[in-house]
Order: sequence, then structure tokens, then C-alpha cells
Amino acid sequence: KMVPVVLCGGSGTRLWPRSRKSFPKPFLPLIGETTLFEATLQRCADAGSFLPPIVVTGESHLAHVDDQLGDLPGAGIIVEPMARNTAAAIAMAACRLAPDSVMLVCPSDHHIADVQAFERSARQAAALADDGWLVAFGITATAPETGYGYIKRGEPIGPGAYQVERFVEKPDLDRAREFLADGGYSWNGGLFAFRADRFMEELEAHRPSIAAAARKAAEMGREEGRRFHPDADAFAEIESESVDYAVMENTTRAAVVPASMGWSDIGSWTSLRDALLRDGEGNTVNGRAELVDCSNVYVETDGPRVSAIGLDDVVVVVDGDEVLVTTAAGAQKVGKLQGAARQ
Ligand code: GDD
Ligand code: MG
Repeated sequence: KMVPVVLCGGSGTRLWPRSRKSFPKPFLPLIGETTLFEATLQRCADAGSFLPPIVVTGESHLAHVDDQLGDLPGAGIIVEPMARNTAAAIAMAACRLAPDSVMLVCPSDHHIADVQAFERSARQAAALADDGWLVAFGITATAPETGYGYIKRGEPIGPGAYQVERFVEKPDLDRAREFLADGGYSWNGGLFAFRADRFMEELEAHRPSIAAAARKAAEMGREEGRRFHPDADAFAEIESESVDYAVMENTTRAAVVPASMGWSDIGSWTSLRDALLRDGEGNTVNGRAELVDCSNVYVETDGPRVSAIGLDDVVVVVDGDEVLVTTAAGAQKVGKLQGAARQ
């Protein structure tokens, strides 16, 4: 059985003004009634496949995590004293688990439409992880996105599973276009499966200082009910690096399972729009709005009625006393607005 390790560190500034510092993306009901964090837990709830989860999060998200985790039996929370990126977050969980545990690392801010397909892929990944592989989930690449990691498939190692020939985190646009044209690459879905001891071995091999500082932070940490607090001084020493750069790009024992599960990284307003049902004109309306001669428009409002005429590929979001209006292309830059930084 797998231990879900749920990473909860992002702030989701590109989804401002819904996502605020005090109420970040994973904890909002962006799709339906369930929050992305709750949906992540529900995907990993089947006791036949999964053990209780470990959530790794920072002080600033702790109240939301506690609240939305509820009294889930056996769940644990690792409370990071400061953010040190995903290599550190995963290492903390690995150090807390029995060495032969199979970890299923799950970002807390993605949408997965086909939960059964997710579970099938997870089981397949877990079997490979048990054999010592570091398993990534390959998502069919449909655009030259530069915000994702790219995985080149190598030799098959089993039914529907391949060795990773190359893992390239966040290529520039030219390379992303090359990878897309090549056809042998998929996007990295940000989900991973590996054994706790194998992860630490690889971290040790490629980033020994991160591994050593993480071990120390775990050894000197303290428990408080279901929470674990790593030692703050030791944790502060950990270099900030993502698991993709620190481990996945360097290991020779990476495998990929291609996963078609309706995956979407709800990174921006346009990716949320694209994950939701649209009408015949490509519009999505959430709240009170009247659209005339509009196409591919996303409107969300928690109060005022929005009326628009003649727009294409535009996002309008009204949240309390903040209004965001942007083109689809501009949606990637929302996090750079002063408003988004302030909130
Ligand atoms: N606990 C904790 N602490 N979680 C963190 C931290 C941290 O310091 N930093 C990031 N996370 C969490 C985020 O909340 C998110 O759920 C997950 O780890 C991934 O971090 P992101 O910051 O969202 O990574 P990314 O989107 O730039 O890239 C990753 O995901 C892509 C797919 O969405 C990479 O794995 C890419 O290769 C991948 O394509
Ligand atoms: Mg992300």
C-alpha cells in the first residue's frame, strides 16, 4: 500500500483575486464544492490501495490544512518552519517513514477528472516503486508549455511503463517546441512514486547536503499530536531546490507511467477555464453575468453582475472589492500584479 504524501506549499498567486495569501489556491472550492486539497485527499482515500496520508505544509497553511483534513484517522502533518521547496518537503516525509514504504507524492493543487484512471496509474507506479524505480507520471503534452517538466520515454520496462531516457525540468520555449515536435516526450504531472529509502539514497547521491540537513532536521524535530515539527535551525540549512532539479533530472533509475486521467495543473485562470465545462461559444460563467457576442470568455463573480459585449479570450474575476480583467495571454502574469503580491 502507498502512503500519500501531499505537498501543500504553493500560494497560487496567478489565481488572484480568488486566491489570497490568507486563503491560497489549494483550499478554495475552485471546481465544484470540493477544494483542490480535499479532492487530493479523496483521490487517495481507498483503504485497499492507500495508507493514511502525510501532509507537508508551512505554518501559514496549517490552519487550513487542519480544518480541511478534519479528523481523518492516522493522518500526519509535517509543519515546515520555512519554505525550502519540494526536495526538502519530500525528504522530511521520507525520513519519517519506514524505509520500505512506498510514497505517492501528490501536489495539492491539481485537478484530476478521472479518479479511477488515477488510481490505476498509482497502483502501477507503486509496483515499480517497490522494485526500486523513481516513478513519474507522464501526461500527454499538447502545447509547448515552459512551466512543466518534460519526460523522454526510453526502453519499455513492463506493460505501459518505460525507463526515463531524459527528464528536463522547465525548458525554454525553443526546447519545449522541439520536445513537442519530437513526439517521444510527455509532461511531468508533478506526481511521483518511490520507496522512502530509494528516494533518500538518490538525494544522498546527487544532493548530499540536502539529504544530510533533512535527516538532521527530522532527527532533532519534535512531535505534537499528529503534527511533526522539524528542527528549525537544521531545516533552515537545507538548500531550496525542487525535486525535479535535485533528483529526477539526475537519477538513472527513473521510470514513467503514461497517465491519461484528465490531469490539469490549475495554474492560472485560463487553465481553470479549460478544465471546466464551457458553453457552445467557449464561455464559462460562474456567478451572475450576461455575455453578448463573447467567445472563450471566463467570468467569475461573487457579487456584482458582470455584463460584457464583443470579447474574445478574456478573463473577468470579481472577488469582494477586487476586480481582475485580463486577456488569456495576460493570465500568466497575474501573480506579478501589485494586488496579487499584496494580498
Ligand atoms: N510543503 C511544501 N513545501 N510544498 C511545496 C513547497 C514547499 O516548500 N514548494 C512547492 N510545494 C508544493 C506546491 O504546493 C505544489 O503542490 C507542488 O509542491 C509542486 O510545486 P510547484 O511550485 O507548483 O511546482 P511547479 O508547478 O513549478 O512544477 C512542478 O509541477 C509541474 C506540474 O504541475 C514540477 O514537478 C514540474 O516538472 C511539473 O511539470
Ligand atoms: Mg505547480
